[in-house]
Amino acid sequence: IERTLSIIKPDATNRNLTGKINAKFEEAGLRIIAQKRIKLTMDEAGKFYEVHKERPFYGELCEFMASAPVVVQVLEGESAIAKNREVMGATNPADAAPGTIRKEFANSVGENSVHGSDAPETATVEIAFFFSGLELVG
Ligand code: GTP
Ligand code: MG
Repeated sequence: IERTLSIIKPDATNRNLTGKINAKFEEAGLRIIAQKRIKLTMDEAGKFYEVHKERPFYGELCEFMASAPVVVQVLEGESAIAKNREVMGATNPADAAPGTIRKEFANSVGENSVHGSDAPETATVEIAFFFSGLELVG
């Protein structure tokens, strides 16, 4: 059993899509074992996305992530990291497969509705960024 960090991004919380996105996770067999709605500061967004700090869109990405509330959550299941990325779809919604969250809901490559950890090591770090062990109720 594996765990991954998911974030429902500002474009999706603004459009009241939290429940529809959670239904996609649950239908795929992912269990939401922790979840909270928070508003990131620019500092927190910058720290979370530090790996992207040399990319040209870093400033825009951090401003977007701090622009409105996000829902951070831990998803648990068999191959949860890969399964979540499959349900999310490609980064750019134009390339995302039918039925994926990004195909159905994302506005653009930047405002793409969800984040998901990309590997076991990053999942561990990203979960610890937002949650204490006591908050994970599997
Ligand atoms: P995450 O799950 O959010 O990490 O998405 P990803 O792994 O599919 O994409 P990647 O890690 O390459 O990029 C991280 C995030 O940066 C993306 O989800 C987008 O929100 C944003 N991003 C990526 N490329 C662009 C871009 O060309 N322009 C803008 N504005 N944002 C981008
Ligand atoms: Mg990524």
